[in-house]
Parts: sequence; C-alpha cells; structure tokens
Amino acid sequence: MTLYFGADYYPEQWPEAQWKGDARLMADAGFNAVRVGEFAWSRMETADGVFNWGWLDRVLDILHKHGVGVVLCTPTASAPLWTVEACPGLLYVNYNRDQRPTGGRRQYCYNNDAYRFYTERIASALAERYSAHPALIGWEIDNEFAQEFTGRCCCSVCERKFRSWLRNKYGQVDALNAAWGTVFWSQEFSRWDQITAPRDSVLPQDPVTQTYLRQNPSWLLDYERFCSDSICDFQNLQAAGIRKYSQKPICHNCTGFAVNFVDYWKLNRNLDRGGLDCYPSVVQEDPISSSRDLSQARNMAPGPSWIMEMSSGGGPDTWSKAGKAQAPDGSLKLMAWHTYVNGAELALYFQWRIFPRGTEQLESAILDLDGVPRRKYREIASAGKELQQHASLITDTTLSAKIGLVWSYDDHWALGIKPTSANSSYSSQHLGLYRSLYDLGAGVDVISYDHDLTAYTMLVLQSPILMNPGIAEKLKAYVAAGGVLVTTFLTAVKDSSNGGFTDRPLPGYLDDLFGVIVSEVDPGAENLPTSIMLVTKAKSGKVEHAYWTDILELHGAEALGRIVGSWRKGEPVITRRSYGKGCAYYLGTYLGAEGRSAVFAEAAAQAGIQAPSFAVPDRVERVVRTGAQGDVTFLLNWNFKDVEVTLDGAYRDRLTDRLFTKSLVLSPREVAALSRA
Ligand code: GLA
Ligand code: ZN
Repeated sequence: MTLYFGADYYPEQWPEAQWKGDARLMADAGFNAVRVGEFAWSRMETADGVFNWGWLDRVLDILHKHGVGVVLCTPTASAPLWTVEACPGLLYVNYNRDQRPTGGRRQYCYNNDAYRFYTERIASALAERYSAHPALIGWEIDNEFAQEFTGRCCCSVCERKFRSWLRNKYGQVDALNAAWGTVFWSQEFSRWDQITAPRDSVLPQDPVTQTYLRQNPSWLLDYERFCSDSICDFQNLQAAGIRKYSQKPICHNCTGFAVNFVDYWKLNRNLDRGGLDCYPSVVQEDPISSSRDLSQARNMAPGPSWIMEMSSGGGPDTWSKAGKAQAPDGSLKLMAWHTYVNGAELALYFQWRIFPRGTEQLESAILDLDGVPRRKYREIASAGKELQQHASLITDTTLSAKIGLVWSYDDHWALGIKPTSANSSYSSQHLGLYRSLYDLGAGVDVISYDHDLTAYTMLVLQSPILMNPGIAEKLKAYVAAGGVLVTTFLTAVKDSSNGGFTDRPLPGYLDDLFGVIVSEVDPGAENLPTSIMLVTKAKSGKVEHAYWTDILELHGAEALGRIVGSWRKGEPVITRRSYGKGCAYYLGTYLGAEGRSAVFAEAAAQAGIQAPSFAVPDRVERVVRTGAQGDVTFLLNWNFKDVEVTLDGAYRDRLTDRLFTKSLVLSPREVAALSRA
C-alpha cells in the first residue's frame, strides 16, 4: 500500500505556462497525488459531444513527469450551460417548487434523463481517454452529492420516478394506503398518479418545515429513501461508465455527518474507497467530530478511506459569509496525521492556490493569490517529508476497533420527520455516544446493520426507532453468541414503513432480548425534573439525563438505574439482561456524560475490553494501530498548550526517535508514534 498526499488542483483556472512550476512545487512538498477535473466540464466538452482533451492530456503529462499521481474527478457537479440550453428541465427543483438558476453549481436533477445521458457519456469518455495514463491513481465521482440543499429534487421527473419506485415497492395502491395509513385525515389514494413529491421535509433551514403542513410521516420517509436511492443510482451510472475502461479505485467525496441526505452505506457499497471531505475547524481543540466522520469513512467501502479535501487554513469564507480563522502552526500537519491514523490511504488539502475569481474567490489555499509559497506551504511540505519517511507506521499497521456504533439513515430520517423533543437530534446524540465510547480507548467503528457485527465485542445503538424482524434476529444472534449490546431510548417503536407496532409490546421484536417491556414513555416536564439513581461499578449515585424516558417493566432484566426526584420515583429506566452467552443493556433515556461513561465502562468490562495501559489528558487523541512489529500508539495533541502524558513503561517515539521512560511532554499540535522500547 502507498500513502498518497497532496492537494485539489484546478489547472483549468490558471495559464498553462504556470503548470510546470506548480508541479515542481508539488514535488518539492512531497506530493504524490492531486485531484483534477472536478467542475471542469465546460473545458472538457465545449459543446454537446465536442470533446477537448488536449489541455488535460498536458496537465497529466506534466504531473506525471514530476512524480505526482492524479485522481480524476468526473465534472458532473456543475452543469455547463449547453446542457441546460438543450434541456431546461434538468434544473433542480426544491420543496417550494422553485427551480435553481444557473450561475452556481449543483443545479441539476439527478433523475433527469437528458442529464443522465450527458453524465454517463462524459464519465465514460474520461475513463476511455485516461484509463491507461501512467499518472492515474483512481477516480472521484461528482462532488459532495446533496450539498447546498440539492438532495431532494421535486421536479416533475422526480415525481414520476417516485411513483414507479412506490409501485415497485408496494405493487398495489391499497398496499401503499395500508402501509402509510392514509385513512388518517382522509388522504387515501385511488391511483398512482395522485401521489406527488411531498412539500414537508427534514431539510434543515427549509422554511416549509416550520409550517403546520405535517404531511404523512410514512410518505415523507419513503421520499427520503427514494431521493437517496436516486442519487446512488446517478452515481452508479457513472461508476459503470468508468469501469467499462478502468479498473482503478473509485470514490465519491462524502461529507461525514454534516448533511445526511444520502445513505452513505448504500452509496459506497458499489465503490472501492470511502471518500470523505474532512473539515474540522483548524483552530479546533476537539477531534471528536472528525474522528467520527473518519470512522464511518473507513467502514463504508471495501477499501480504506480517501480524504479528498481537508482544510488548508482560513481567511474569507464563501459559505459561512464570515471569516475563518487561520491554521495555527502545526494544525495542517496534525490534520494529515489525523486522517491517516484513522484509516486513510490518501489525503488532499483543499486546495492548491487561492482562486482570484468566481464564487469561492479569495478562500484559503496552500499557495496565496500570487503563487508564492509561504508558511502554509512550508508546513505542508514538512508534513509531506515526514509522511514519506514514516509511511510504514501506517501502511504496516491496521486499526481494529472493538466497539461498533450503528448509524442508521432510516432512524435518522424517521426521527427528523417526527422529532420527539425540540432539542433532540439523532446525530448529536450519536456523537455523544461516540465520544463516551471513544474514551474507552478501544477504538470505535461507525457501522451499519449490514456490517459483520461479530467483529465487535460490544455493539451500541442510538434510538433504533424503526425495527424489522431481520434486524431483530441479527441482534439476538449477536448477543446469543456472546456479544454485549447496548441500546438507548425509543428502541423498536415502529415498523419499516414508519408506523407504530400494534401486534406486540415495545421494544418490538426485542422485548425478550432486553427482558423489558416499555410500559409508558415520558418526555418529562421542565417543572418536574428527574435524575437517575445508577448502580454500577464505576458509579453508584445520582446522574443526569435528558430528552426522553422509557419506563421499563422488568421481564427478566435487572434494573441498573431508576428514576429519582419525581412522582415516578423508583421506576426502572436502565436495565441489563443476560441472553445466551452475551448481555443486553437498555438505556431508556439519554444519560449525561457521567452516566454514559459508567454504563459503558460496565458493558465494556463485560465485553472483555480492557482499559488502556496509560491515561491521556483531555483532547489528546489516542489511536492504537497494530502491526507485525507490535502496536504503535499514536498520540495527537489537539490542545494549544503543552500536555504531559504519564507512561506505564519505556516507549520510543518513532517519528523523532526519542526515548521516554516515564512520561513525555507533547507540545501544541504535536504528534507522537510510540512503540514499547
Ligand atoms: C466543499 C467543496 C469544495 C469547496 C469547499 C470550500 O468541501 O467540495 O468544492 O466548495 O467545500 O471549502
Ligand atoms: Zn428532479
């Protein structure tokens, strides 16, 4: 395995005379990869079917001569004007039924047949032309699907295709009526053509959601799924076009948990690398959010992750309309290590040189407007050298997490469509769980139900509100075979159509696994605050909780936590049950950090997860990678101050070759790679 390091490069925006100089500077910085081609459609195909490859041939040749490989990107994220002129109907239509104008990017409808034709043709043509080029490393498809609120097109083509999607799924209109429960408020359909794209949505910041529309939740969930499937299909059309000519790895640059309009498990299933754009703020001292993104990225495609964009610093910012802070010394290098230790094979900074013109003018890049290499370039170049020298610390080791944390798009959408509390969010609660699990120091993989659950000794679910017999059987088999399962409130309340179970108690299909029945649910009242009295090894006493409470009747489980401080005093909320060779915990509420850590510590001990041999200070990221030569413990200091780490023996830092016998001091943004001495 080779580690790739470089930047996103837009040569079409610069005079050709500059390209050689760029390539030389890249090579000097230790770059062996750039991404090229994204958004350059109007230069690749100047008019319908008129291809213009000369410039791109020369770019690839120059880069190759300098030892810089290329990830070619299909340019379909921005539709050239000739496509719109040929077919005005390809423009994206939002929930309010406004058509997106030209002049920006992501203006297209992923279901439009004309656009799909042009798309397949340009992706295939690119692959045909460059599959044998020696610079080629692989492919990226499009750019950040569904970003900028383009994940839910509502044009007439989408409406028509939604109807066929529903027809495929339900067969008969009456089956759909039953699944959606359209008898409620007299909304029954008698013909497919009566069904439209909904207007209500889970799009954040969409003013329509603030109204009292309240359309049917089953209808809304199916639209989420349909749009996500349509985007996957649009991508797969391109992947198939590329694969006609090239066997090199393909990725898409996903956006972690920022948007969640596309089911990334499905999107990446058919790709080779888990692509991610990773933008933790450069002044951030807390790596947890990007750690979770990287955890998903390394688990979503068959191969390792490719970080297609990471921040190159601050300055003016188009998207927030506010300035972004500059990267303090060491931050750019820290981020590169952050991506590799967490599973990346390739990492590229966005982007090579500040754009003087266009929407993103003046935004941060490695080189300033005048092209003079300054502080950022020097830091990135030193990272490039360090990585070249120490690549084997990554390539000869692997990260194997013991804990699996499920992320389900269906649950995320269902909870967004009918939120249970104004302040709750599946994603932020999931991140809270991720943080507490990560603190156990055993590694956390964000996964789907389709992953091999038996790879993890402990498995955690955040409010899996939708349940079906297939998933339930998988979870039971996992625990029966010795796994430790932890779930939280609102587990298995509804079926896959987003309707409540009527033929079984809650948690549906899982009451015997957890040994509980949810007898009542309670979001709580501000003037009647409650706490949980917890009895675990790590903590016996009162802990805080929030958002929601499932009151549990014990049917074989033991109570680890009961309500205190209200008329509900003594009622069980946190339980544990032995099941087969394993154990199942039900956390009928969202515990605060203290309670979460206590319960997770108990569950982890039961799962045979040992505490790490030494503790790390706050905001020091620890990632243990295992190799034939023993473990390498990476320590990344995200703090802007020195921190001291007390060790449990002698270690050598493989990056600096220093020996530490008792402790080491990490300076701000410093990275160490420790092996036992
Ligand atoms: C995203 C996009 C890029 C660019 C950057 C700007 O990640 O993929 O094209 O717009 O943001 O920060
Ligand atoms: Zn559409």
